[in-house]
Amino acid sequence: MNQFVIKGGTPLSGSVDIGGAKNAALGLVAAAIMTDDDVILDNLPDVNDINVMLDAIEGIGARVERIDRHAVRINGSTIGAYSVDYDYIKKIRASYYLLGALLGKYKKAEVALPGGCAIGARPIDLHLKGFRALGAMVDTKYGLVSAEAERLTGGHIYMDKVSVGATINILMTAALAEGKTIIENAAKEPHVVDVANFLNSMGANIRGAGTDVIRIVGVDRLHGTEYSVIPDQIEAGTFMCAAAATHGDITVKNIIPKHMEAISAKLLEVGCRIAEYDDAIRVKASGCEFSHTQVTTLPYPGFPTDMQPQMTVVLGLASGTSTVTESIFENRFKYVDELRRMGGQVQVESNIAIITGVECYTGARVSAPDLRAGAALVVAGLAAPEGITIVDDIHYILRGYETFDAKLRGLGADIRMAESERDIRKFVLQVS
Ligand code: UD1
Repeated sequence: MNQFVIKGGTPLSGSVDIGGAKNAALGLVAAAIMTDDDVILDNLPDVNDINVMLDAIEGIGARVERIDRHAVRINGSTIGAYSVDYDYIKKIRASYYLLGALLGKYKKAEVALPGGCAIGARPIDLHLKGFRALGAMVDTKYGLVSAEAERLTGGHIYMDKVSVGATINILMTAALAEGKTIIENAAKEPHVVDVANFLNSMGANIRGAGTDVIRIVGVDRLHGTEYSVIPDQIEAGTFMCAAAATHGDITVKNIIPKHMEAISAKLLEVGCRIAEYDDAIRVKASGCEFSHTQVTTLPYPGFPTDMQPQMTVVLGLASGTSTVTESIFENRFKYVDELRRMGGQVQVESNIAIITGVECYTGARVSAPDLRAGAALVVAGLAAPEGITIVDDIHYILRGYETFDAKLRGLGADIRMAESERDIRKFVLQVS
């Protein structure tokens, strides 16, 4: 099992290129099988979650050809099975997107029921409600969700809760249903818009993605396309927080600044200086004093829940008492005990973290409880001038960050990926 080993205290400086958005790419890879023509996807992040999704579509018969590290050619004409097994779903919940894609194209699909996960219960009732509204018979039995329809017909769907996954799944199925579908209270996240744009580039008729009412007029078939994945809002935000926490000065490049507004606004409030360019943002925190603030996670354009742990790490270094309210997932503060071991002063009451700022963190051996919390602990380690931080269970982090340690080294950080306790000892000796 690999670890990240970090000697913190160096302010990050320089620039970093942000890759394609993992969460958008998960939807795009699933949607790519909805045509029998070739689909070329570019700017695909080379991270474990995407590689599992590519394996999952290969597993049901699609052809997947790597063009280079970030581009792939997918052909769904050879699909022979409509059932996605538990092996994939247990590795990535988002393989439930294959339910929407297969149901839309073949009118039947079967996917293992995703279980709870580290950050909360995560039901899929809204996805199923949407499929039923489009005329599918949906059954959950023996740990499987199966959905089947003789005809899919457009429907009017009101989402009781804003759900990214349900919005994407329903719009995929509705793209090939007969007639008009309206999704109300739809999620507005950038990756919802990306999946809609992608389907439109394949001949779908989807309007309103990015607002809370999406209108879809079903088409008979979708055709091939070439498409480039949008930049990763959360990877970019993580580097912005790393710059802040280390009092550094970095430029995150190849991003859409509009997607970063909630994060930029909070870093500005804390005391960082932010400069926006066409496709880059500079975060300057050198010489800045941080002051406390309040953050509440909300669906887009609110502050993203996937940035909550990284922001908490920054606020842990701000004077006074800050609060972070988690309103999306009930179990997203599991990293707080680990942060306390690094000197953070954070109390959790219900869904609110109450943070009393400290001067600095200190290095400690900690364990990543999930993907974003793991990245946040790395950020805390980079901001710890004394001691060495060892982050265990980094397989979570590798699910969503491509060459995280190399990109951080490019910004001057002292971080290594260790493959053994011997590697860790070697690194400690080198930096002591
Ligand atoms: C996606 C992201 C995840 C991010 C989350 C919120 C992907 C692959 N993952 O997850 O990184 O943290 O959006 O921005 O894109 N809910 C229900 N019933 C449902 C579906 C959801 O009650 O059928 C609830 C969830 O428990 C949660 C809320 O709705 O409280 C939002 O979840 P949702 O937006 O669906 O998250 P995901 O799509 O799973």
